[in-house]
Amino acid sequence: MAILKLANIKKNFINGEVKEEILKGINLSLRKGEVTALRGASGSGKSTLLTIAAGLQPATSGKIIFEEQNIANMSSEQVRKIRASKFGFIFQFSHLIPFLTAEEQLMLMLEVSKSKLTKQQKKMEVNRLLNLVEMEHRKYAYPPSLSGGEKQRIAIARAIIHNPKVLFADEPTASLDSKRSRDIMKIIREITKTLNITTLLVTHDEDMLLFADQVIEMSDGQIIQSEDKQLNNDVVDLSV
Ligand SMILES: Nc1ncnc2c1ncn2[C@@H]1O[C@H](COP(=O)(O)OP(=O)(O)OP(=O)(O)O)[C@@H](O)[C@H]1O
Ligand SMILES: [Mg+2]
Repeated sequence: MAILKLANIKKNFINGEVKEEILKGINLSLRKGEVTALRGASGSGKSTLLTIAAGLQPATSGKIIFEEQNIANMSSEQVRKIRASKFGFIFQFSHLIPFLTAEEQLMLMLEVSKSKLTKQQKKMEVNRLLNLVEMEHRKYAYPPSLSGGEKQRIAIARAIIHNPKVLFADEPTASLDSKRSRDIMKIIREITKTLNITTLLVTHDEDMLLFADQVIEMSDGQIIQSEDKQLNNDVVDLSV
C-alpha cells in the first residue's frame, strides 16, 4: 500500500539571473513496510527530493500525497505538525547531545513526544528502543565514547521514538566503514519491516542497495531507472 506518493514534482532554484530546474517531474510511490533507496551522482537531486518528500522545503509544483492528503497544498504550520508527529529523520552524522547518556537522549525525546507516560513507562519505552537497535548494553554511555555506528543506532532509536509512519534518511552510512554500514542498513531494514513503517533513504554506496525493496536511480533531476524487488520477487539476502 502506497503511503507517500509524489506526483510530477518539480523544483526550480534561481541562481542569480538563471533559473535552474533541479527536479524535472518526479513520480514516486513509497509503500508500507518497504525501504526505498535513492541513488545517483552527486548533484542529481537526491537530497532535494528527500527534503521535499519530507515537507522540509516546498516543491515548485506537483503533489505530495501522504495518507490521502496533499501536503503540497497545506500551510507550513500543518506541514510542521505532520513532520513532527508522522515523520522521523536520520542524517549522515548522528547529532547527539554530547553531555547526555544514550538513555537520557531518548528520555528527553519522550518528554516531548510522549509526555503523558510515567517515568517508569518512559524508561521501559527507552529500553524497548535500545533493544531494537541493539544498544541496551551501552545505555549509560556518553556519545564521545560511542563508535560512529553506535551513535547512529542511537540516532535511529531517536528517529522512531514517536512512532513515525515514514523514516527519511540522507546518507545514514556515509561516515561509516563497510561493516558498520551494513549493520546500520540491516537495522533500518528490520525496523521498517517490524514496525511496518515506510523508509526513504539516499545512499551512494552500492552495497547498501541490497537492503532496499525499491531502488530509484536519479540523474540530472529525473528518475532514469526504477527497480522494484518485491515485484520482481528477488530474494533479499541479509546474511552478509
Ligand atoms: N538551495 C539551493 N539553491 C540553489 N541550488 C541548490 C539548492 N539546493 C540544491 N541546489 C542544487 O541542486 C542540485 C541538486 O542538489 P542535491 O543536494 O539535491 O544533490 P544530491 O543528489 O543530494 O547530491 P550529493 O550526492 O552530493 O548529496 C545541485 O546542483 C545543487 O547545487
Ligand atoms: Mg545529497
